[in-house]
Amino acid sequence: MHDHSGSRVLVTGACGGIGEAIARRFAAAGAAVALADIRGPELATLAAELSASGATVHHQVVDVGEEAAVQAFCASAASELGSVNQLVNTVGSVDNMGDVAELPLAVWERTLRVNLTSAYLMAHHATPFMIAAGGGSIVNISSISGLANQARMMAYSVTKAAMLALTRSEAIDLARHGIRANAVCPGSVETSLVDEAIQLMAAETDRSPEETRRDWESEYPTGRFTQPNEIADLVLFLCSPQASNITGASFVIDGGLTSLLAER
Ligand SMILES: NC(=O)c1ccc[n+]([C@@H]2O[C@H](COP(=O)([O-])OP(=O)(O)OC[C@H]3O[C@@H](n4cnc5c(N)ncnc54)[C@H](O)[C@@H]3O)[C@@H](O)[C@H]2O)c1
Repeated sequence: MHDHSGSRVLVTGACGGIGEAIARRFAAAGAAVALADIRGPELATLAAELSASGATVHHQVVDVGEEAAVQAFCASAASELGSVNQLVNTVGSVDNMGDVAELPLAVWERTLRVNLTSAYLMAHHATPFMIAAGGGSIVNISSISGLANQARMMAYSVTKAAMLALTRSEAIDLARHGIRANAVCPGSVETSLVDEAIQLMAAETDRSPEETRRDWESEYPTGRFTQPNEIADLVLFLCSPQASNITGASFVIDGGLTSLLAER
């Protein structure tokens, strides 16, 4: 495992399957972590557990789509942890199915705010602290849905593709401050978000969630979804000195799914 004792890390969506794995891995690697999520009780439980294991932890209930809340979180995290040099944006929602004729403007706008504007806001308010710390890195959790689209997942795909463009601009514009920016594009990961997506797809196709899951997993060349810890390990590498010349890149972790041409 990489040593992250010098890392002061902001993690958004810290109660989610992927965010929690990232928070746990960073804490275990010696990092001080500032955790943001909209779910207060779950966040307090996670923070207490990590603190009890010896980690320095700051936690705050934040709606990352709200600028004032994001600004306050970045400032309090920098104050509590002493500085900030890593930012990992994991918040994302799939509660936005619909094609262009169906999707209401309100859902479109909410999806852009929660999935995309949040990553801009976090970087906007965290980078002054990262510059003051002498540099660092940003990791944006995008998706393979940013590279190719699924039926009726338009709003989600638009935000995930835009996140890749945001990452490239961050890499170009912040390199002079010693800040790197990279994106991770997972396929399906074993979290409640995937369970939710399976339920939605099952309801759309009149198949059971179990059948839908089996069909979905069998589409992966490796025959399985990715585990949250496998995403966390990649994120910790990208935030480590071993990745010091990696910036503006996106990393697919999808069991080979996007390498495969459909045969039917
Ligand atoms: N799970 C997958 O299969 C998968 C695949 C590809 C990409 N991703 C992406 O990875 C990221 C994390 O996914 P996950 O599976 O851990 O999701 P999750 O639903 O388990 O976690 C998301 C977390 O974000 C929090 N959140 C939601 N809205 C928020 C807001 N406005 N402010 C603050 N917190 C908020 C939720 O409370 C939750 O804890 C998402 O961006 C998702 O799009 C997930």
